[in-house]
Amino acid sequence: MKKCSTFTKMTKIRYGMVGGGLDSFIGGVHRAALSLDVRTALTCGCFSRDEVKNNECGEALGISEDNLYSDWREMARAEGAKGVDGIDFVCICTPNHIHYDVCKEFLLNGINVVCEKPLCFEIEQAKELCAIAKEKNLLFGVTYTYSGYNMVKVMKQMIQRGDIGRIISVNVEYPQDWLINELQRDDTVNPSVWRTNPKYTGIGNAVGDIGTHIENLVHYVTGLEINRLCATVDRYGKQLDYNDNILVEYTNGVHGNYWCSQVAAGRMNGLKIRIYGENGSLEWEQHFPDYVKFTRRGEAPQTLSRGCAYLDVEAAGGSRIPAGHPEGFYCAFANIYRNVVNALVEKKETGKADFDKYDFPKAEDGLGGVRFVHAVIYSGDHDSCWVKMSDFE
Ligand SMILES: NC(=O)c1ccc[n+]([C@@H]2O[C@H](COP(=O)([O-])OP(=O)(O)OC[C@H]3O[C@@H](n4cnc5c(N)ncnc54)[C@H](O)[C@@H]3O)[C@@H](O)[C@H]2O)c1
Repeated sequence: MKKCSTFTKMTKIRYGMVGGGLDSFIGGVHRAALSLDVRTALTCGCFSRDEVKNNECGEALGISEDNLYSDWREMARAEGAKGVDGIDFVCICTPNHIHYDVCKEFLLNGINVVCEKPLCFEIEQAKELCAIAKEKNLLFGVTYTYSGYNMVKVMKQMIQRGDIGRIISVNVEYPQDWLINELQRDDTVNPSVWRTNPKYTGIGNAVGDIGTHIENLVHYVTGLEINRLCATVDRYGKQLDYNDNILVEYTNGVHGNYWCSQVAAGRMNGLKIRIYGENGSLEWEQHFPDYVKFTRRGEAPQTLSRGCAYLDVEAAGGSRIPAGHPEGFYCAFANIYRNVVNALVEKKETGKADFDKYDFPKAEDGLGGVRFVHAVIYSGDHDSCWVKMSDFE
């Protein structure tokens, strides 16, 4: 087993999962990512509302009958009542509509939380979750995947070191095409695709699903804060947005340009970020996640590769496997979890931990995403007017 220098001691962390059944997309990714560092054990779950699917999943994952719950409320209460013998954290992988209720229930039962994005529907709900976690000194992570990629962390540190100088422009796109066939359908909601239904998704579809990734990625890499934005929101006669163009102005007056789409034929998960500074630029694309294009002003572009010794920032040490063997989505998740688990180990061993010193997306980042969704949808529905983020607090 590759030993990672950023591990703390080998205290085992127990976790449970809500949602994430065998038929789901992201549940298996969380479990696989958590298994990469062999420091956690999945001990309980409520993987599906459907009893048969829940049982199948529990059996496949080796969860005993006693620890397989048909209701996540019951799971939160029972695990909370076990005290130190219960789970150390819960991982929430359900569709968006119950994130708030599930997060709140586990927090109130004294259990640390890692939740999928978008964190919840309403700004007030997100603020409440932040406040409960803070008051109870509980860890609260939100899995914004892209901050976990090693070369994203390298870019962040290169920017902090001043390698491209003062940032003057940001351009990010996240195009997909998996909902393009919806445009041929007559109904405004496809009953078999929960992301097309506001009841399960919230007020924003594309902006909540992938726009929030852009918002978080830029904030993570550059530290820039959005002051105001304007947006076009394309619904094509459906209930929710499938294609959004967003112009942002950061608090320092610099501008950025975001595009997210689920109807861009030929695009899969084409997240691409380009950051321009006075002295150079950085470019990263999810389809080629181990590489960063770095251009110094007036010089030919260079391709930097993950895992190579010439990467002289600390983040480069977080690489998991040798250069040339591709890392990817699972490793990005595992990198987020490595820091979550380190924080939980510290808490378990010392009774307290300063979660802010650990590099993983927190509840406040989730709140930022919810505010972003509301601002974009509001602007799109009001003739693409400029809206101030301070009006969405
Ligand atoms: N971070 C990322 O990169 C990323 C990627 C994909 C999805 N997501 C997020 O993950 C979440 C789930 O998305 P998905 O694509 O895996 O959805 P999915 O439909 O594939 O899976 C959802 C799972 O939740 C279960 N579930 C639904 N209601 C439940 C309930 N009341 N109790 C217990 N289980 C319940 C379903 O049975 C299913 O197993 C969404 O919030 C989505 O935005 C994040």
